[in-house]
Amino acid sequence: MDYKTIAKAGYKKFAFVEGNQYIASEYALIKILELVKDFKVKSILEVGLGIGSISDTIFHYARQNGLDIQYTGTEANDYCLDALPKNVVDYHKIELYNEMSQIKQGSTFDLIIVDGSDDSFQKIAGYCKADTVIFIEGYRGVQIVQFMKIFPNSLRAETISPSKNPAYGPFPADRWGGGGQLIFTNPGLYQKWYWLIEKGNSFIKNRMRKFKG
Ligand SMILES: C[S@@+](CC[C@H](N)C(=O)[O-])C[C@H]1O[C@@H](n2cnc3c(N)ncnc32)[C@H](O)[C@@H]1O
Repeated sequence: MDYKTIAKAGYKKFAFVEGNQYIASEYALIKILELVKDFKVKSILEVGLGIGSISDTIFHYARQNGLDIQYTGTEANDYCLDALPKNVVDYHKIELYNEMSQIKQGSTFDLIIVDGSDDSFQKIAGYCKADTVIFIEGYRGVQIVQFMKIFPNSLRAETISPSKNPAYGPFPADRWGGGGQLIFTNPGLYQKWYWLIEKGNSFIKNRMRKFKG
């Protein structure tokens, strides 16, 4: 199965799971798997595991592609902590913490996915390598401003869905599917090129959205 099919299956699974009102959009799942593939990601930190749509989708992708991804996540909500073992295929592989500040000093990640809030955001730079990519699900204006201050040399590109939400799931089918923010904390040549392509794609998709209404 290709990564888009796995992401769509992940979204469909969680579209029918209880407590799904805050899951990642189908488009965000597609984009996250694209990042895992394009950047050969081996270690992930997810801030705000929620009920597990992102982690479960990534584990399915890893299984199908024979990848061993080291997965660390934060979650403090009791409802979510109870739902995660039921929803996430390789739940036992997650190194789970209530908040970011509990993660071992010196741990670094290839990809950091932000889909929740955390009072210890200022510490995020400590978990980044030179080429860490950050993906922020949706448009989290306050967090974006924080990140741009923490990473003054970074490049940010918005990524948006070219389609409307699926008929199933918690998000209205007459609204454009979600998106996210890509932050290259300290971009090298490949990441600069990737950023440029993403900016161009989002420009075209924005135009297309306006045209289609
Ligand atoms: C946008 S959600 C994260 C969603 C997560 N990525 C997922 O796929 O399920 C952000 C935060 O909302 C809280 N949350 C998510 N689902 C919830 C629920 N059903 N009930 C209460 N809190 C929830 C969690 O604390 C989570 O970290």
